[in-house]
Amino acid sequence: MLSAFSVVNIYARVFLVHVFKANAFRSQFKKHSRDGYATFSTGLPHSIMTKKILLTGGAGLIGSHIIDQLQADPEFSGREVVIFDNFSRGQRANIAQALSRGKVTIIEGDVRDRDALRQAMDNVDLVFHLAAIRITQCAQEPRLAMEVLGEGTFNMLEAAVEAGVRKVIASSSASVYGLAESFPTREDHHPYDNRTIYGALKTWNEGLLRSFNDMYGLDYIALRYFNVYGPRMDRHGVYTEVLIRWIERIDAGKAPIIFGDGTQTMDFVFVEDIARANVLAAKSDATDAVFNIGRSEEISLKDLAKALLRVMEADIPIEYGPERAVNPVSRRLADISRARDVLGWTPAVDLEEGLRRLVAWWREERAEAPHGT
Ligand SMILES: NC(=O)c1ccc[n+]([C@@H]2O[C@H](COP(=O)([O-])OP(=O)(O)OC[C@H]3O[C@@H](n4cnc5c(N)ncnc54)[C@H](O)[C@@H]3O)[C@@H](O)[C@H]2O)c1
Repeated sequence: MLSAFSVVNIYARVFLVHVFKANAFRSQFKKHSRDGYATFSTGLPHSIMTKKILLTGGAGLIGSHIIDQLQADPEFSGREVVIFDNFSRGQRANIAQALSRGKVTIIEGDVRDRDALRQAMDNVDLVFHLAAIRITQCAQEPRLAMEVLGEGTFNMLEAAVEAGVRKVIASSSASVYGLAESFPTREDHHPYDNRTIYGALKTWNEGLLRSFNDMYGLDYIALRYFNVYGPRMDRHGVYTEVLIRWIERIDAGKAPIIFGDGTQTMDFVFVEDIARANVLAAKSDATDAVFNIGRSEEISLKDLAKALLRVMEADIPIEYGPERAVNPVSRRLADISRARDVLGWTPAVDLEEGLRRLVAWWREERAEAPHGT
């Protein structure tokens, strides 16, 4: 039997090997640049500048913010962005601004369709993999979950290897931990406390990424997001998040409803911070690694509702309802030191500021399309 110390020791060694691999890659790249490869002002070889960037699920909440940041970043702005999305949840409005800036192609396709993915991957060297269904829908339609998160991710990796993609940045989730045993939770926490099919498939995705790295040398980073919120959250869908429901009710002068006793904690992180973590992961030489992406601040649902009431300047008592069946994880708190040390990422937007920006966006959207048209 391995002692706890040996397990931690092995994790630490594996991590150091990855950092070492990344440094070796970096020095190799620097050498190539010195040796006279054609470079643009970004310092990247010309061959990379003409390659496309593909985002599966690119029309969704997080994907659309990643595109905005890619377009604003000198290292990526010259490159064509391909959005591969079946628009089951993604919205054209999310990507309207990105489209107006140019160099964006939309492919209405499904990650379950191998041929469509293979074609979309043509001349692509960087993939952000976001296509997925929500945790709640996974519980209601487990076979669909298996097909989209499971087989869809396999299809994406197979197509990526075939196309010679350089790196995949994959959206994983804090759900891999389930109700963790230690807080703040580190990346080397085991995944056996997860009890959801969504979390199981995200864990499997991480395993697939590592095995493709081993078999084909495909570089990847998986980012385990904690609780994401911000402008472009789904306002109308069946699986709309709790914050949007609360905003609607508070705006109508009604009490926000908490399912459970409100002591459940979450670690909320603003969507633009999530997008920036993705861009930094794409720029980083680190590979074959997972990173927690949260704020490393836990807030109870009760305090979250109070913060929202404050931001919306409403004085309404909170209402309580019966606990929901899916994802009854009572505590979430990320250790984000690895993302800070290796990717140079720290969250920039605090909760009150993030909630203010979410509410301002929601009000604008409602003024423009009051009935969700
Ligand atoms: N939002 C969060 O709190 C959160 C937390 C942890 C992890 N994640 C992960 O981050 C990623 C992005 O999440 P998001 O919040 O932007 O969700 P989202 O629903 O806004 O975006 C997902 C996108 O995938 C598309 N999609 C769904 N099924 C597809 C299919 N079969 N083929 C092609 N496209 C498909 C949807 O139309 C949508 O545009 C997902 O992988 C999600 O699991 C999100």
